This record gives sequence, C-alpha cells and structure tokens, in this order.
Amino acid sequence: MSQDAKKRAVAEAALEFVVPGELVGVGTGSTANAFIDALATARGRIDGAVASSKATAARLAEHGIRVVELNSAGNLPVYVDGADEATRHRHLVKGGGGALTREKIVAAAAGTFVCVVDDSKIVDRLGRFPLPVEVIPMARSLVARALVRLGGRPERREGFVTDNGNEILDVHGLDILDPPTLESELNQIAGIVANGLFARRGADMVLIGTAKGVERI
Ligand code: 5RP
Repeated sequence: MSQDAKKRAVAEAALEFVVPGELVGVGTGSTANAFIDALATARGRIDGAVASSKATAARLAEHGIRVVELNSAGNLPVYVDGADEATRHRHLVKGGGGALTREKIVAAAAGTFVCVVDDSKIVDRLGRFPLPVEVIPMARSLVARALVRLGGRPERREGFVTDNGNEILDVHGLDILDPPTLESELNQIAGIVANGLFARRGADMVLIGTAKGVERI
C-alpha cells in the first residue's frame, strides 16, 4: 500500500470525528489536504471550516467549503491535522510545512485534536525530524544562539516566509527526552513565536494509516 493511499485512508477515517452542523478546524500539509478532499464529500453536513494556513483556506474554498476566521468562530469541536513525527504518547513534531503557529492556535481552540498520519511518522522518541521554530526575523541570530546552547543545530529555512511574515529555523540534533518540558523552555526564549513541539497540548487521538488498515492511539 502506498504512503498516499495510507494518507487517504486516515483522512477518510477522520470524517467520523466531524460533528454535523458544526465547524471543523483543518490543518496543513499533504495529509490535511487528503482530509479536505474527503471533507468535500460531506460539506453539506458541516457549518464550515477554520483553516490553519492560507494554503488550507484556499483549498477549502476551492472545494466549496465555507472558511470561517477563528475570531468569528464559536464552538470548534474538532481539529484535524497531520504531523511530521508522532509518539504513542500522542506527542508530536509539526511545522514541516511552516504553518506551526497557526496550527498550534487552532489546536488550542479545538475541543478534540485528531492527528492523521501514515505509519512512517511514528517514532519512539521525537527529534529525528528537525524541529521547526518560527522566529521574528530580527531575533533570528539571538534565537539561534540560544538553540545551540540547548544542544541543537539550527538551520535557517532559506527563502521561506510564514503566513505571519516570520522565518523558520529547523533545529537538528535535539535529543527530545521530555517533550512538554522542552516545549515550555523554547516558549521562554525571546523572539520565538512558536515551536513545533505539540506536547503540552498534544493530540487527543492519533489515527495511523498502515498496510493493515487504520490504527488508533
Ligand atoms: C505543516 C505540518 C504538517 O502537518 C506536517 O508537515 C505533515 O505534513 P504531511 O501531511 O504533508 O506529511 O505540520 O506545518
């Protein structure tokens, strides 16, 4: 079974969590795109969607799904998004697509965060995938030095500007033994807007696409 087929399978399985007549939060990336495609078949059943990026908002609109700003959204029962890495404790690394800040905001606003991944994303310990960190441009060097002191090797994502007008540092070599503690530590560094650890508010449910079907954690 191909990776794309696994992504499609988890995306379709996530439809089960969408609450009829309510809004749904939608993440960013290829798995989230597969979810948008699945959601289009059920668009009459939902009130609309809150997007975690400009790209997702555009794709939702192309599919005829009403896009609602988070500030105007009332109840947001569910958020569906992919991840770059996920553990069986439902801690995640996200931000490969650079949308981590808005993803964290929409996840924080949602009642339930359903993470959809194929089985290549499941790891015992986070950190093999370089940790994305969104930084205010003027603080890039200051933040990079702080990340080096924490044992990381930050690399600027060349030519990339986030939806918020900021830059991304991809941090290699971090040994992430305690994801919630590192997430909090990174949040204290002046100039960091958000980091790609989703551990303090991890996923409530991880759906994993495997050759044998969709597994749930
Ligand atoms: C974007 C993300 C994505 O969820 C993550 O990069 C996974 O993407 P994909 O589903 O394409 O593998 O965090 O910022």
